[in-house]
Amino acid sequence: MNINYPHPLLLVPSGALQIPDSPATLPGATTPNPLFSLVIPTYNEAANIHKIVRILCQILDESIPGEYELIVVDDNSPDGTWEIAQKLTVEYPQLQVMRREKERGLSSAVIRGWQAARGQILGVIDGDLQHPPHVLLQLLENIQNGADLGVASRHVEGGGVSSWSFIRRFLSRGAQLLGLVILPGVLGRVSDPMSGYFMFRRECVVGQILNPVGYKILLEVIGRGRVKRIAEVGYVFCERKEGESKVSWKQYIEYIHHLLRLRFSTGHLGKLTEKFNFPLDRFVRFGLVGLTGVFVDMVMLYLLSDPSTLGLPLTRSKIIAGEIAVFNNFLWNDAWTFADVSMKQNELRQRLKRFLKFNIICLAGLVINVMVLNLVFNFIVPNRYIANLVAIAVATVWNFWVNLKLSWRVTEVK
Ligand code: GDD
Ligand code: MN
Repeated sequence: MNINYPHPLLLVPSGALQIPDSPATLPGATTPNPLFSLVIPTYNEAANIHKIVRILCQILDESIPGEYELIVVDDNSPDGTWEIAQKLTVEYPQLQVMRREKERGLSSAVIRGWQAARGQILGVIDGDLQHPPHVLLQLLENIQNGADLGVASRHVEGGGVSSWSFIRRFLSRGAQLLGLVILPGVLGRVSDPMSGYFMFRRECVVGQILNPVGYKILLEVIGRGRVKRIAEVGYVFCERKEGESKVSWKQYIEYIHHLLRLRFSTGHLGKLTEKFNFPLDRFVRFGLVGLTGVFVDMVMLYLLSDPSTLGLPLTRSKIIAGEIAVFNNFLWNDAWTFADVSMKQNELRQRLKRFLKFNIICLAGLVINVMVLNLVFNFIVPNRYIANLVAIAVATVWNFWVNLKLSWRVTEVK
């Protein structure tokens, strides 16, 4: 059976995540482009999609009939969300559907949707009805009254979370605090920087390459966009009735990664690192991983050599503890610091090769560490702790730079 849908599936834009200045019109369109484009990212939302489309259309038809479009961006959900959405376009021709088969992830889904959008105001809302749809109208009103960005917030009057556990509240607030420390210029501008429910004027982000890693795409829009006036509207984050949340611990790691990346690629630091072409955000991740290594080394040394535990000889214990720490660091660096590179070379043989290189380079780093310590202590500053700090810094830079060039190098050769 061949159903004639009002539009074919939207083509997935490729290349950089950049929003075009003047949006394309639909092929064969007779009406002008809509004012407002609302992207609904979905993954396994088969149970929610019909309801949310119906409610959104009801609300928007009352206030801006004919002047909006809905864009569902589905990452090829196993439950066939995109197919259900595509069928809905018969009843709702203002709905369009994008089915992504190659890329994954919430943020890039949203941006791909905006790339295909035709409106001058671009927005996003979750597809699971946890974002109360009527707030849309207040957000729109704020934009029409001159705001560049309208954010639905859980932390202003009228806002809240319905029934989050203590631990989720704690994690959410903790993440916000961490962000405030790393990126005050971005997170300090809104009360709910984690919000996934907002809209903004297209001109604010035109020409910027958006580069989000995790879930928190609002950070990108504020961090890279030209956003002057921000309005916030309170909303209560409702309980999910159907389907499941996709948040996991991985999102927290991605969030930190995202903060660092934004920190080092925007503002003064961004200009500096660009000038010297130094991958500062990678370096910071490498350093953080190094700190976890120190912790692992200490714990292992205790477990192996302490008289109250195994009581092994000190040197032997240290060699084993050090190697376990190196292994720990390798795993994190491979999975996080250099994830983009290792993903392209993920055969076991390639991983083993990287691990071997990492080991040798870190061993050389240890030798350098000892040499610098002696050099600085004997000839420059006769204070062993200052000398040690210098030695550690030099060895870290060595470890980072040489591993960057040798272990996690992208080999373009086929
Ligand atoms: N296309 C696509 N690809 N959609 C996705 C993906 C993905 O990889 N992961 C999640 N989604 C969709 C879900 O189907 C849902 O519509 C929406 O994105 C939000 O995902 P949830 O998994 O329901 O997230 P949440 O409820 O835990 O988090 C929400 O609250 C945060 C505030 O703390 C989201 O709204 C976040 O955007 C928001 O920041
Ligand atoms: Mn949700």
